Amino acid sequence: NEDVLVLAIESSCDETAASVVKNGRTILSNIISSQIELHKLYGGVVPEIASRKHIEKINQVIEEALKEADVTLDDLDAIGVTYGPGLVGALLVGVAEAKAISFAKDIPLVGVHHIEGHISANYIEHPDLEPPFLCLVVSGGHTHLVIVKDYGTFEILGRTRDDAAGEAFDKVARAIGLGYPGGPKIDRLSKEGNAYAFDFPKAKVDEAPYDFSFSGVKSAVLNHLNKCKMQGEEIVAADVAASFQRCVVEVLVEHAIAAAKDHKIDKLAIAGGVASNSGLRTAMEEACRNNKIQFYHPSPIFCTDNAAMIGVAAYYEYQKGTRHGLDLNAIPNLRL
Ligand code: KG4
Ligand code: ZN
Repeated sequence: NEDVLVLAIESSCDETAASVVKNGRTILSNIISSQIELHKLYGGVVPEIASRKHIEKINQVIEEALKEADVTLDDLDAIGVTYGPGLVGALLVGVAEAKAISFAKDIPLVGVHHIEGHISANYIEHPDLEPPFLCLVVSGGHTHLVIVKDYGTFEILGRTRDDAAGEAFDKVARAIGLGYPGGPKIDRLSKEGNAYAFDFPKAKVDEAPYDFSFSGVKSAVLNHLNKCKMQGEEIVAADVAASFQRCVVEVLVEHAIAAAKDHKIDKLAIAGGVASNSGLRTAMEEACRNNKIQFYHPSPIFCTDNAAMIGVAAYYEYQKGTRHGLDLNAIPNLRL
């Protein structure tokens, strides 16, 4: 049997996830146990609760992933696991579990960078996609514009100076009173609003044309809401949401397209939780069409945190010879 089977584990934030991936691109199972309902009560992820919940769920999630893929631990060629970046206590659960399986069954261990996982989600549904290409990674914790030079080889062109794109969505959503997680709620509400009701600022970072800054637009929205409250004016939440989303989307699209043109790259992918934003998808698709760039994006289930994307990344790392020892640690601020 020449198939390469990878069991992947992801526990960097608030999803406990396991997946079995065949030959890097075929997902045999993709199990996700979400803790969102639990963290909603607190308006955001509570790290201590996340770690405890991962401990409770992880064995069951892995068992389900193996069962659905119809494989046993003895069939596996490698164990892939996210070892950073993320919440340290949450990451440690997945890392300890992966090390235990690796040790007990003598299966090679491959630590995976969470962002490399997000990027690799694009390989799942696009068999034709191969490096080099440009990728915009937009999640709750990260905003990166990256050239994927080869599998596992990246050049970072730009990153956020302050808030991540998803973080800005979540904070604005909270201020409008939409609850957690805010991104999908702003997305939905935007469809009922006027995206040109307000012109929130679109920050540029001097001398770093591909860097992002979202704290300015976030503050502008908060100031607007405060002003309305002080003056007793009605807040039209849908207009605020739509205008905010347009502003963020325009910056993301402008930067990505400029980078693609400057570097003469004709393939552009998006990844991370915010990549399921409908406004971003539509605008990026149109901009790519106008500039003769091939556009790629994962289905929403592969945009938010999942283990399938970690399995895909682990496969390519495994093929390159990446192996980690039982001293593998969780690295909360791991660099790409
Ligand atoms: O990739 P992800 O699941 O976790 C991280 O690695 O951070 O991303 C979660 C983020 C949250 O901030 C969430 O609000 C945002 O992605 N998000 C969205 C949408 N769906 C999820 N933001 C905007 N529009 C969406 N449709
Ligand atoms: Zn993520």
